[in-house]
Amino acid sequence: MNKPIRKAVLPVAGLGTRFLPATKAVPKEMLTIVDRPIIQYVVDEARAAGIEHIVFVTGRNKHVIEDHFDMAYELEDTLKARNKTAALELLEKHRPQPGSTSFTRQQAPLGLGHAIWCARDIIGNEPFAVLLPDVIIKSQVSCLKQMVDLYGQVGGNIIAVEEVPDDQTHNYGIVELAKEINGNASHISNMVEKPAPGTAPSNLMITGRYILQPEIFELLSHQGAGAGGEIQLTDSMLALMKEQPFASLKFEGRSYDCGNKPGFLSANIAFGMDDPKLAEELVPFMMEIIGRPLAAE
Ligand code: G1P
Repeated sequence: MNKPIRKAVLPVAGLGTRFLPATKAVPKEMLTIVDRPIIQYVVDEARAAGIEHIVFVTGRNKHVIEDHFDMAYELEDTLKARNKTAALELLEKHRPQPGSTSFTRQQAPLGLGHAIWCARDIIGNEPFAVLLPDVIIKSQVSCLKQMVDLYGQVGGNIIAVEEVPDDQTHNYGIVELAKEINGNASHISNMVEKPAPGTAPSNLMITGRYILQPEIFELLSHQGAGAGGEIQLTDSMLALMKEQPFASLKFEGRSYDCGNKPGFLSANIAFGMDDPKLAEELVPFMMEIIGRPLAAE
């Protein structure tokens, strides 16, 4: 029997410099996609996969995230007094159970690998999930749930992957596949973080969803700096691959990299179009914008 995946780590310490000045006082994870902060989509995805406890690895100026997942007493009391049942239910639906979240600080921006390592004591000796909150995924079934299902069959470590255009591989971690397990899942034979242009072993990027065995922590504890001078999770996963199996999953769904402006804006449109009322107004607006001749150069 594979040990169940009960806990997830969400590294939320990044500065969000690409979105300044929006992220000067507001964490990038709190920027809004339609009517929910980015981080809420990621937490909802984790909970839909059966995750019971979420560990947020935060940094300075991120306390709003902790407030967001807490009870907002004054607000909820006022809503109650005004009989705003629907709004109250919405808040309740998205709020984790008391005691099911932990917050720890990364203290120094040493890289994703270091951020995950900071969660080691809270995770303990059990397999766990990692969800990078820059990425939100639109799918029928929670992406992490799809991974948990595969984990139930094959165990080990699982990484969600997605195809990217060849000219973008240098922005991501890239995996190389070995033998197929089934239609969408394969064994991984190699991985590299942000390969130099033209050197990527494939165009399958690591999407920002992982199921990892706890032995990764020991490797992370002495992992040296890699791509970009940072301690990279990918490098420790490559080391763990010598001892344990890694499988990839081409999940059903589509990811939006909200760490950059095109991805963030695309996510707003894609999730906005899910609401029929919004779609009714958005479609004519988009037609108008697209139909408009480009401004003269
Ligand atoms: C991180 C990971 C990378 C992954 C990417 C997905 O990179 O290191 O392997 O492909 O997230 O968004 P970052 O975007 O933090 O530079």
